[in-house]
Amino acid sequence: MNLLTFDTHTKLHESGAGIITGLVQTNPRAVLGLATGGTPVGIYEEIVKSYQRGVVHFRDTTTFNLDEYVGLPEDHAESYRNYMNTHLFNHIDLPRAQAHIPDGNAVDAQAECAHYNMLLEQAGQIDLQLLGLGHNGHIGFNEPDHALISGTHVVELREETRKANARFFDSMEQVPSHALTMGVGTILKAKMILLVVKGADKAEIVHRALTGPITTDCPASLLQTHPHLVVLMDSEAGRLFQ
Ligand code: F6R
Repeated sequence: MNLLTFDTHTKLHESGAGIITGLVQTNPRAVLGLATGGTPVGIYEEIVKSYQRGVVHFRDTTTFNLDEYVGLPEDHAESYRNYMNTHLFNHIDLPRAQAHIPDGNAVDAQAECAHYNMLLEQAGQIDLQLLGLGHNGHIGFNEPDHALISGTHVVELREETRKANARFFDSMEQVPSHALTMGVGTILKAKMILLVVKGADKAEIVHRALTGPITTDCPASLLQTHPHLVVLMDSEAGRLFQ
């Protein structure tokens, strides 16, 4: 595990973006696993800047997002499809057919999960999986539980996750109750995992996840078993490691 702490968000974002663009420069056909939420926004901004400078292109790259809410129209401001368009896809040359996000409006959600698993399998191994961290230790939307599911599945979001995400909606009632998420098996199969954690409110959970017992009660703790885990933290999130 490689832990890196940054004293400014700019440096953290540049470092995260540099790891991703560096991979795509070396291997333009890379398969990237992408995350949404507040954490990666600055990293996506830096990736867009690199693309605009002509340093990297994404014509041959394939992406798979971790998750999507169930039941939000695609063009809803808070759908993860819309988030990805706004923060990344509208600004780079990644062909949309190569940018995969689970369809949270599929009539048959189970069939959609099976289809997403099939697409992931066809693409082969994810080269780099970008992850944020939930306050309860979730990765993707794999919530703490007595058992975790390996592949893409439908999940009922925990109350604390809905509360944390309510900041993006007008009210708590509007936060969807369910989501489709990649499973932990798929996440852990990635060749490299880039976990990004920011803010004092995540200091305890990131410390517990990376140094505490490996348990499904803290899904991120499973990352300890990964052979190529890189963790980028701001100094607030990383304070318990010092
Ligand atoms: C997002 C995702 C979630 C977030 C996590 C942290 O695609 O899978 O696991 O990474 O909830 O969210 P933020 O970054 O908003 O604190």
